[in-house]
Amino acid sequence: MTTYHEVQQKLKQQQSCWLITGVAGFIGSNLLETLLKLNQKVVGLDNFSTGYQHNLDQVRELVGSSAWSNFTFIKGDICNLNDCQQACAGVDYVLHHAALGSVPRSIEDPLLTNASNVTGYINMLVAARDHQVKRFVYAASSSTYGDHPDLPKVESVIGKPLSPYAVTKYVNELYADVFQRCYGISSIGLRYFNVFGPRQDPNGAYAAVIPQWIAALIQNRALYINGDGETTRDFCYVENVVQANILAALTTDSAAINQVYNVALNDSTSLNQLYQMMRAALIDSFAHIREHQPSFQTFRAGDIRHSQADISKARELLGYAPAYRVDQGLSKAMDWYKHDLANRN
Ligand SMILES: NC(=O)c1ccc[n+]([C@@H]2O[C@H](COP(=O)([O-])OP(=O)(O)OC[C@H]3O[C@@H](n4cnc5c(N)ncnc54)[C@H](O)[C@@H]3O)[C@@H](O)[C@H]2O)c1
Repeated sequence: MTTYHEVQQKLKQQQSCWLITGVAGFIGSNLLETLLKLNQKVVGLDNFSTGYQHNLDQVRELVGSSAWSNFTFIKGDICNLNDCQQACAGVDYVLHHAALGSVPRSIEDPLLTNASNVTGYINMLVAARDHQVKRFVYAASSSTYGDHPDLPKVESVIGKPLSPYAVTKYVNELYADVFQRCYGISSIGLRYFNVFGPRQDPNGAYAAVIPQWIAALIQNRALYINGDGETTRDFCYVENVVQANILAALTTDSAAINQVYNVALNDSTSLNQLYQMMRAALIDSFAHIREHQPSFQTFRAGDIRHSQADISKARELLGYAPAYRVDQGLSKAMDWYKHDLANRN
């Protein structure tokens, strides 16, 4: 099996065209950064609903003007089939990441979530089919495990969805499977578990826990832990996710294609442990953190208690080998957190 290192070396020698939907978002902009650094051509599609121009600006600074000239941005909406068709023209690989994230948002506005995550998703599948792309890799989600109690989570054993968001992500998998049967589309779904890293939005009602807490620590604001802090998650640094995407796009193993994979670490970190890790990583730079204490509040409705991925399928079939543990990911992202979050409100 080809390792990620070998795949990267090969990519540097051979230029392909990639489409990243959701390119101005957290994961999308990290995919963009890596692919441009690997000398690839990239088309990006985003409507800026939860993504930002400043994420694209940061990538431009990081990759330099020569690599940046390989990037074409389309401001458009996946709910509009024409935008999807335009974006797929001449593309080899699609990394589909445009969607409305957040379980609570989907409970408040299921129609809005459904529009991007189901209607937009099927538009992208149709456009990818019409333009005969080589591979359609899409962001699936651990929320598909729903109410199933088994740990660690194995791809073949899922429960009932616990939110409209979870329904949309499961529907993505069903449509990918049916598009393979009906039209021969070659796809791979990646079920992400709590991804974190640079450019993840710390603000707003639906912000993820890691950037939200780091911002609170840096800015000396109150930080709330839902429940007793013993809830656990399999937090995954974004560069591991980028690796999984590139391996999924390029695998030629027929057994690996038209499958879904867990993408995480097979690790378990409690919220209390996470708080202590962040505190330790920041305490030397921000003296006020010595006095900082978290506040505990009630459990959030719909939250599952524990989540942990079995990643043996991705290891065996894709050659996925996560390069960053949680503490390593936190320390790699710390400069970004310090510079980017210190001055925000
Ligand atoms: N971050 C995680 O922990 C996590 C976990 C599981 C799954 N996912 C999935 O990964 C993908 C990327 O998530 P993220 O954390 O980077 O979120 P994000 O909100 O930072 O990025 C999503 C991007 O998609 C864009 N977008 C949304 N709707 C669109 C539409 N209709 N047309 C065009 N662009 C649109 C947004 O503007 C944004 O830039 C999503 O599909 C999400 O459901 C993420």
